[in-house]
Amino acid sequence: MNPIATPLDSAVIAGVVTHTVDALTPQNLFGFNAPRQTLVGQGAVLKIGSLLQAQAARRVLIVADRAVYERGLLAPALRSLARAAIEVTVFSGVEHEPGAGVVDRGVAMLAQCGADFVLGFGGGSALDAAKAIAVLASCHCDLPALAAADFAGVRSIGLAAVPTTAGTGSEVTDISVIISADGRHKVVAKQAALMPDLAVIDPSLMRELPASITAATGIDALTHAIEAYVASSANPLSRALAISAIQTIARALPVAVGNGGKTEARLCMALAAYKAGLAFSNSGLGLVHAISHQVGARYDIAHGVANGILLPHVMAFNALVCRSEYAAIAAALGVSREGMSERQQCDAGIAAVARLLADIGLPDNLARFGGRAADFTELAAAALEDICIKANPRCVTEADVIQLLQQAMGPPAAPRAAAGC
Ligand SMILES: [Fe+2]
Repeated sequence: MNPIATPLDSAVIAGVVTHTVDALTPQNLFGFNAPRQTLVGQGAVLKIGSLLQAQAARRVLIVADRAVYERGLLAPALRSLARAAIEVTVFSGVEHEPGAGVVDRGVAMLAQCGADFVLGFGGGSALDAAKAIAVLASCHCDLPALAAADFAGVRSIGLAAVPTTAGTGSEVTDISVIISADGRHKVVAKQAALMPDLAVIDPSLMRELPASITAATGIDALTHAIEAYVASSANPLSRALAISAIQTIARALPVAVGNGGKTEARLCMALAAYKAGLAFSNSGLGLVHAISHQVGARYDIAHGVANGILLPHVMAFNALVCRSEYAAIAAALGVSREGMSERQQCDAGIAAVARLLADIGLPDNLARFGGRAADFTELAAAALEDICIKANPRCVTEADVIQLLQQAMGPPAAPRAAAGC
């Protein structure tokens, strides 16, 4: 063997070294994904026809909550689409959090009507179903394939989303949550193809929401913002959006729950849910959502309600590693005072979240929904498999999740007595 490198060998070695250095040099990069176009404001839904026309839509399948359809909330959108001469088929089969069967029926209806565009219209359930229908119909695949890490499908069918609640943020995320065919688990799919092309956010669609739904969806938005702010994969832009959303929700949510007719509070909540949605879609979520997806499916608890039960407990658990972030959250919630230590601010932030939940009348324990200690090992194992666990700032074991579930059987303890602070 010749120990002296030839010129060719040197060039190869230099190429390998350069390639390695170039691969290792970029650090702390972040990207930011959002719909290509978003329209926000009172009456925005009346622009849906011209907006879809500009996207070359000819036939639209509207995927709507049954309640939204029956309450006539689609009427302004239907008028606008008719004026734009766009053909419409309505699928109003979404009654609850969507299951695989609803999505399959939507895909079949889309094939039947030949739609080239899907318009999700309703709460998070309708939007998540619409997003899954558009992608599955484009890619001719099933739900497990959509949720797989190696999914590489490209959506060919247009996709727009119009929320009628201020909470989910689904209109601006690349995530869809669907209940598995056996009804026991929530399948969380996060894929670029699930990001809508267009989001239209109109607070006038939210004026008639009952207080209980305003409360639950608003706490979902708060949970998105808090989890996004402390997420291990947060970036400067997601943090800025998250903290702004927290500040707005603390002020506007009690008013929107107490008097849903207050236009200003509805607009603020719509904006906060929008900002929180952009934040978590780009940063990830955390342990609240990882557990909430399991208990929500098992005990049939509305998503926002389950989040609210878990949020103070998980905040206390995570405080061990994100005390300074919680101090910033306390300031955004308006409970930080001069002279407080960081630890006191952290305590105050967690207490403020628990107080907000009580003020707006949300349940504070799993026991009232039939939570059983016998289920906790299985639920904890499933939570550790949930995609949302990846961005949680504190390492989590199965024993930790079981303990949190046990704690959540009762109301949250005073923050100082809870672990972590
Ligand atoms: Fe959520």
